[in-house]
Amino acid sequence: ISKKQWKVTSFCWCIFLHSFLFLLVTMSDWKDPDNVPDPQINGESYRNPTEVKMSQIVLPCHANHCGELSVGQLLKWMDSTACLSAERHAGCSCITASVDDIHFEHTIGVGKVVNIIAKVNRAFTSSMEVGILVTCEDLYTDKQWKVCHAFATFVARRTEAGKVQLKQVMPHTQMEQMEYSLAAERRRMRLIHAEIITDLLSKCQEYEDAVPAERTRVESVELVLPPHANHQVSTFGGQIMAWMENVATIAACRLCNAHPTLRTIDMFHFRGPSHIGDRLVLKAIVNNAFKHSMEVGVCAEAYQGGEPLRHINSAFMTFEVLDSDRKPRTLPRIRPEPVDGKRRYQEAVARKKIRLDRKYIMSCKQTQVPLSVPWDQSNQMYLSYNNVSALKLMDARNNWVLTSEKNKVRLYTSEENQMLCFKVEMHVSVPAEQTFHLLSDLRRRKEWDQHYEECELINQADEEDTLYRVTTPSASKWGKGMEFILLASRRKPCDARDPYLIALRSVTLPTHPPTEDYTRGEVLCAGFTIWEESSSVTKITYYNQATPGVLPYISTDIAGLSSSFYSAFSACSHFLEANKDSLVALPLSTLQLDSTTTASTQEE
Ligand code: COA
Ligand code: ADP
Repeated sequence: ISKKQWKVTSFCWCIFLHSFLFLLVTMSDWKDPDNVPDPQINGESYRNPTEVKMSQIVLPCHANHCGELSVGQLLKWMDSTACLSAERHAGCSCITASVDDIHFEHTIGVGKVVNIIAKVNRAFTSSMEVGILVTCEDLYTDKQWKVCHAFATFVARRTEAGKVQLKQVMPHTQMEQMEYSLAAERRRMRLIHAEIITDLLSKCQEYEDAVPAERTRVESVELVLPPHANHQVSTFGGQIMAWMENVATIAACRLCNAHPTLRTIDMFHFRGPSHIGDRLVLKAIVNNAFKHSMEVGVCAEAYQGGEPLRHINSAFMTFEVLDSDRKPRTLPRIRPEPVDGKRRYQEAVARKKIRLDRKYIMSCKQTQVPLSVPWDQSNQMYLSYNNVSALKLMDARNNWVLTSEKNKVRLYTSEENQMLCFKVEMHVSVPAEQTFHLLSDLRRRKEWDQHYEECELINQADEEDTLYRVTTPSASKWGKGMEFILLASRRKPCDARDPYLIALRSVTLPTHPPTEDYTRGEVLCAGFTIWEESSSVTKITYYNQATPGVLPYISTDIAGLSSSFYSAFSACSHFLEANKDSLVALPLSTLQLDSTTTASTQEE
């Protein structure tokens, strides 16, 4: 390695180390991108056509006895704003199908202003994802802060002709493109949520001084009147959520005999409609109490006259009790009732684990240490989401700078938050689907990439997720080779405006601890997007967020001192063209992992 190359490598390392420190310092000061002013398109201020805003002054009638805005009231406002946005896109009446997990970052006092913005991120067939941002404003100090960000799914009401086919959403800005792309990932997770719970049930623990769950049971009835319904005489989803929050708060209060603060509401699913004249029976009970938080379950059922009860909704809410320093108080344990109570107690543990996994893994904070998270079957869905979303976020960046070009293979770099990323772009005369199949199987990468020494398939988790162990030769003459445990997540396009994707990130596996013979490397975010340009021409983009492990291989290219990227990607192009007619399929492995769950969730 020449002196000049060494200087460049050291420089890149410095950028890297700085980026970590910078990120640790700025993490707490993170600003929500939705707070930035309207973007400009062709010199004119652009506003999303589905965007709907609502501003409300919090009055005493909206507050609980502690002078804080009741979460139920907030949910009503959020639901109405989101519904109007969905209807603006759909051009017909819409109903709330579900609301994803909501984490409330702050409570809101009387006298403050609540600002809600909702817009449709993406339309599927008859359903749409609506993004909702809630901020709180202090009119006297002119300060604004984020309260929560939520995603709700609205479905266009069926007509006599059957299911409605919605028009597509056309993203115009970088932010809209990103939300459009991520909406497909979130929808995938929403629809599989219930299946994950059943995999996660654990044993019930006995505590001597536990409070009998029975003591927290609440039952309350509401009559649905015209003010509770929308213009289509259906009960507002937000109204039902508000009634549910009311009974949940009473149940939580009965366990701790103090004022509980609602922290999180899990994904809501409206199973059936409710109308004016319905009697809504709301039942709540504490399902489980952990050290600092408790889960309250609420069930809403409707009936009219002598009809049987109809199940409308079930929700799970997490409460904390804050002491005078606003720190969470230790809560009493709960003794569940037999049979259903015990089952709910165990399911609450499973949901708690899911919540933690989602919060940590889905936050997409790729830069937080530790970089690799343990992979297991229970968090597979979230890791896969995180893997693909990180690649989509990188793909959505618009600050790429062309650094080098050779025979139409282009190398770009991008520095954001002092984090260095690079991408290599080229075209091949191979159909997109075949390119996707050939690049998806990492075991074949050594056929074109000299940095791949060995690649072993560890586990084929499902059609879309595969775990590999990859070894690369040492960058220096005397050093050790490197080893990576990679999760490869592949996605076919949802529609013509999605690419094929192969996302790669590091994970850890108890079956594959680091060894003496290799240095364990980390891939934060890497992968391919594959766009069909025509039936025979495909654009391939390879992305990599440069970690210390990969920097030595690429830094001389970035500095213009070499073009090894070109040799690797022209070899890739030859490999694809040579195999364009072969029938490739990713073989399903019979290998299974001895999966152990991540951090214990019995105790916080
Ligand atoms: N989360 C998000 N979307 C969901 C979902 C969930 N839990 N369950 C179903 N959907 C989506 C489907 O993916 C589908 O989307 P697509 O058309 O874009 O592919 C859409 O809802 C319709 O699904 P479909 O299979 O045709 O109907 P369904 O029998 O699953 O019914 C609802 C789904 C939402 C229409 C039905 O559960 C319902 O009517 N719920 C009551 C809604 C209501 O009245 N809300 C107001 C408060 S009472
Ligand atoms: P599950 O029992 O599978 O959790 P349900 O939809 O029956 O699902 O109920 C959702 C939640 O509502 C339960 O977890 C429980 O906390 C609460 N709940 C259900 N039935 C009652 C009841 N009869 N009394 C009090 N709370 C109830």
